[in-house]
Amino acid sequence: MTTAATALPLLALRITAGPVELRGVTDDLLGPLADLATDIHEADFMPFGFPWSLTPASEMPRNVAQYHWGKRASFSPAQWNADFAVFFDGELVGAQGFTTKDYLVTRCGETGSWLGRRFQGRGIGTAMRQVICAFLFDHVDAQYITSTAFTDNPASRAVSRKTGYTDNGVDRVNRLGKPATMHRLVLEPANLVRYKHDLNVEGVPEFRKSIGLDTGEQVPQDQSR
Ligand SMILES: CC(C)(COP(=O)(O)OP(=O)(O)OC[C@H]1O[C@@H](n2cnc3c(N)ncnc32)[C@H](O)[C@@H]1OP(=O)(O)O)[C@@H](O)C(=O)NCCC(=O)NCCS
Repeated sequence: MTTAATALPLLALRITAGPVELRGVTDDLLGPLADLATDIHEADFMPFGFPWSLTPASEMPRNVAQYHWGKRASFSPAQWNADFAVFFDGELVGAQGFTTKDYLVTRCGETGSWLGRRFQGRGIGTAMRQVICAFLFDHVDAQYITSTAFTDNPASRAVSRKTGYTDNGVDRVNRLGKPATMHRLVLEPANLVRYKHDLNVEGVPEFRKSIGLDTGEQVPQDQSR
C-alpha cells in the first residue's frame, strides 16, 4: 500500500535498543512532541544555538509542526534531516536528530537532541545518542558525526564524552545578544561507546535509497573534470 512513508521512508524508520525506541516523526507525534517541548530547560538558560525553545506554549504546536513539515518538504540526498521521536519504556521523552548536507560525498553530519525536563538526568540522553550514532555508522555508512554544546551545558558535553566524541575546537557565537563559547565535538566509528543493548532496525533499505545510497549511480568525485 502506498503511504506517506512510501514518499518519505524516514517516516517508517524504527530503531529499537532495549528500552530505547527512535521513530520517524509522523504527524500523530507532532502534538505530543510540542507539549514536551514547552518544558526543556530553565528560563534563564539557553542550550540551543537557535533559541526555538523560547516559543510561547500557545505557538509551540505550530512551531514544531512547521519545523518537521519544512524538513520533510526539503528532504533530498543533497540535504536531509533524520529527526526521531524518542521513546523510553514506551513513553515519549524527547527528540534525537541528525542533519547533513552533501552526505554522499562527506559521510558526515551533526547530531542534536533534547528531552522533556522531567526525563533528564536518568541516562536517557546518553542512551539515545549512543543508539543514533550506532545506527548511522552501522546502517547508513557514516564516517564522522559532529555535535556542538555551549560551555555552560555540562550534561550535553558529558553525553558527547560518554559516547566517544572528542574535542574539535570552539566557536564564539551570538547567544541571545551575548557572546558564548560553543564547543565542537567529533566522533569516528572506532571511538563509539556502544549502548548496552543491540539495535533492531526497520525500514533501512528504503531509507538508504531515499538518501541516494544503493542506487547504482556514481557520485562525481571531481566536478572539475
Ligand atoms: C542534554 C540532554 C539531552 C542530556 O540528556 P540526559 O538524559 O539529561 O543526560 P544523561 O543523564 O544521559 O547524562 C548526563 C551526564 O551529564 C552529567 N551532568 C549533568 N549535569 C552536570 C553538571 N552540572 N556538571 C557536570 N556533569 C553534569 C551527568 O552527571 C551525566 O553524566 P554521568 O552519567 O557520568 O553522571 C538533556 O539534559 C537535555 O535535553 N537538556 C536540554 C536540551 C539540551 O541541552 N540539548 C542539547 C543541546 S546541545
